[in-house]
Amino acid sequence: MNLPFAESWKIKMVEPIRKSTRQEREQWLKDAHYNVFQLDAEKVYIDLLTDSGTGSMSDRQWSALMMGDESYAGATSFKNMKNAVERITGFKYVLPTHQGRAAENVLFSALVKEGDYIPGNSHFDTTKGHIESRKAFAIDLTIDDAKDTQKEVPFKGNVDIDKLEKFMAENTDKVPFIIVTITNNTAGGQPVSMENMRQVREVANKYNKPVVFDSARFAENAYFIKTREKGYENKSIKEICLETFSYADAMTMSAKKDAVVNMGGFIATRKQEWYDKAKVLGIIYEGYLTYGGLNGRDMNALAVGLDENTEFENLETRIKQVEYLAARLDEFGIPYQRPAGGHAIFIDAGKVLTNVPKEEFPAQTLTVELYLEAGIRGCEIGYILADRDPITRENRFGGLDLLRLAIPRRVYTNNHMDVVAVALKNVFDRRDSIKRGVKIAWESEIMRHFTVKLEKLQ
Ligand code: F0G
Repeated sequence: MNLPFAESWKIKMVEPIRKSTRQEREQWLKDAHYNVFQLDAEKVYIDLLTDSGTGSMSDRQWSALMMGDESYAGATSFKNMKNAVERITGFKYVLPTHQGRAAENVLFSALVKEGDYIPGNSHFDTTKGHIESRKAFAIDLTIDDAKDTQKEVPFKGNVDIDKLEKFMAENTDKVPFIIVTITNNTAGGQPVSMENMRQVREVANKYNKPVVFDSARFAENAYFIKTREKGYENKSIKEICLETFSYADAMTMSAKKDAVVNMGGFIATRKQEWYDKAKVLGIIYEGYLTYGGLNGRDMNALAVGLDENTEFENLETRIKQVEYLAARLDEFGIPYQRPAGGHAIFIDAGKVLTNVPKEEFPAQTLTVELYLEAGIRGCEIGYILADRDPITRENRFGGLDLLRLAIPRRVYTNNHMDVVAVALKNVFDRRDSIKRGVKIAWESEIMRHFTVKLEKLQ
């Protein structure tokens, strides 16, 4: 008999979590204006709000913290980080930032100006925010298959190359660079194939444009390439990462995801010209070149995390847990973006809460219901997150309306996944009785989902 699959680590330290009653949760959520970002974390039982900065560090990472060099300039910790980034990505120039959006801010301050177009697959909301706040436009050219949650395709995060080619032919003058997000978070944590990245590079070369990878989950992307793309079965994750970045000129990185640290990010590039522009802005916004908003100890932990999380066993443990939750949802017939993503399951709220009109935000309504059911905190990746069109100010109902259950790395067990699956089943079983959603009482101009105040409609 084959041995069953089990985690590639064991647990050395634990943190208690608490259950609550439905009555308590009703009050807490009302006080939070039905926005789960406004909830106190101790009022959450299983927290699937994000996989960002919420992972458990390894014993090697914790010991690296103790060796942090806190020198203002030229710290060994910076060299450790720079060397790890260069070894894994091939990029020579590395600029630390305090997190991913800070990397976007610094790099885009150097590269994006009013009226520009930045085409690519789905831009994450902070990426979109950093483009739109500069009065430029994020052009989402993800393949159409990504919009059909029930269609199983292996690389649903891909850029539609025909659309990209057409867009470039018509708008090349206004495009400072193409951006590809690996994995494609907004489309469901879906991977981008090596072939697709190679094709993006070819289009970019044709129009003489650079390519940036938003790389928050590049290691998970590499896992999918290894396990799904022909020709990569026998390559190591690190070999796949090196080839991946050979198709880009630069990367922005939120190290809070695939470097498994609680805070951190960086820009890395092979273009000295970009580094030289960005480094001045980095000093203004983040800090000196060898710390950029990070402690020496953070950079040490980041270096180790990058190294460990570009090993197959670690990624396999993680992604198999996401797949485990997906398999439980399959048992109950709950529709989600198929196949399961790298860091999360994205429930197709429009297919669950069919009685709730889109103007009443079904995915947010499902987020509310899941919290009330069992104290589980997910996150709406849907019509609220989509914000309003910057010109017409209309709500953008064109995309998917999903409830994301993001799974922190090395934090919960499959028993927790069982609780999540059954809680969702309970909501799913009474879906027909949920007829009203939520109404916006107050919203900010951009990135409204963090601070929006909602009312529950009866
Ligand atoms: N790019 C992607 C693809 C992301 O998913 C995120 C963050 C960022 C950039 C920004 O990085 O948070 O370090 O500033 N995503 C988190 C999430 C917040 O929950 O998906 P950051």
